[in-house]
Parts: sequence; structure tokens; C-alpha cells
Amino acid sequence: MAQGDYPALASELIPDVGAILVAACGVQPRHRVLDVGAGAGNAAIPAAMMGADVVASDLTPEMFDAGRRQAADRGVELEWMEGDAETLPFSDNVFDVVMSCVGVMFAPHHQACADELVRVCKPDGTIGLLSWTPKGSSGRCSRP
Ligand SMILES: C[S@@+](CC[C@H](N)C(=O)[O-])C[C@H]1O[C@@H](n2cnc3c(N)ncnc32)[C@H](O)[C@@H]1O
Repeated sequence: MAQGDYPALASELIPDVGAILVAACGVQPRHRVLDVGAGAGNAAIPAAMMGADVVASDLTPEMFDAGRRQAADRGVELEWMEGDAETLPFSDNVFDVVMSCVGVMFAPHHQACADELVRVCKPDGTIGLLSWTPKGSSGRCSRP
């Protein structure tokens, strides 16, 4: 279930971190890129702007329309696909870059997610996660 206006929140609070993750992953034109827990495309859209072939995947597809509008505003197209990070709906070894910007960290079973990220990434590909640390301010706020 989706509640609130996460795309507006992301634009307000973390507009730059997606592009930082894309740069850290070394995304190049024509790379096949998967963004897991993509939300409205905070990282996926900057990757598409680099000329990559991008799939934005999320458990909560209600955010995709906002993402499509933001992508159109920036003159790029990407694929939006509903999917659980614990059982990604992709074949083995298909992506040059698999990334997640404060996304996969929210799935409850981290080992299952890690196995899936590795499975769908090419053996010589790159996996990049941008996550809160447990002791940082966001991590402390999220503690149960
Ligand atoms: C804080 S938002 C980050 C969204 C986006 N990456 C960004 O940087 O704005 C966390 C995202 O993780 C997604 N998410 C949570 N659990 C997930 C799961 N099991 N599989 C896929 N996505 C998940 C949520 O739906 C949400 O879009």
C-alpha cells in the first residue's frame, strides 16, 4: 500500500543522492542498469540521462507515474517494473549495473535481497548500494 507523497519528499530531501550513486557505479552510455527500490527514479533517471538502458523496479508501483513525468521532463525514457527485491522478476546475469538508493535496505530479508542483486548482475558487473548507516541520524530515526 502506498501512502503520502514520497516523490515530493524525495525531491525535497534527497534530490542529489541518486546522481551520486550513479557516478559511483560508473554508469556508462548503453549500460543495462537496474535500480531496485527505485521509487520515482531518483537514481534511475540520472542513469538514463547518462545514456544507459534503465529498468526502475519497485515493490510500490504507485510512484511510477510521478517517475514517468519526471523522466519526460528530463527528456529520457526508462522501463518501470513492479518487483520485490527478494524475488526480482529478471533473468540471471543481465545487468551491467545493479544499484539501489536507500531502497533495498528497507526489504526485511537482506540475505535474500543480496542473493538476488548478485544473481541478476553480470559476473563482471557492478552492484552499488547507497544506504543509511545505523548510527547516522536517519538510521537512528528508523530504529524500532
Ligand atoms: C526511501 S524510498 C527510496 C526510493 C528511491 N530509490 C529514492 O532514492 O528516492 C525506499 C523505496 O524502497 C522500496 N521498497 C521497500 N521494500 C522493497 C522491496 N522489498 N522490494 C522493492 N522495493 C522495496 C519502497 O517502495 C520505496 O520506493
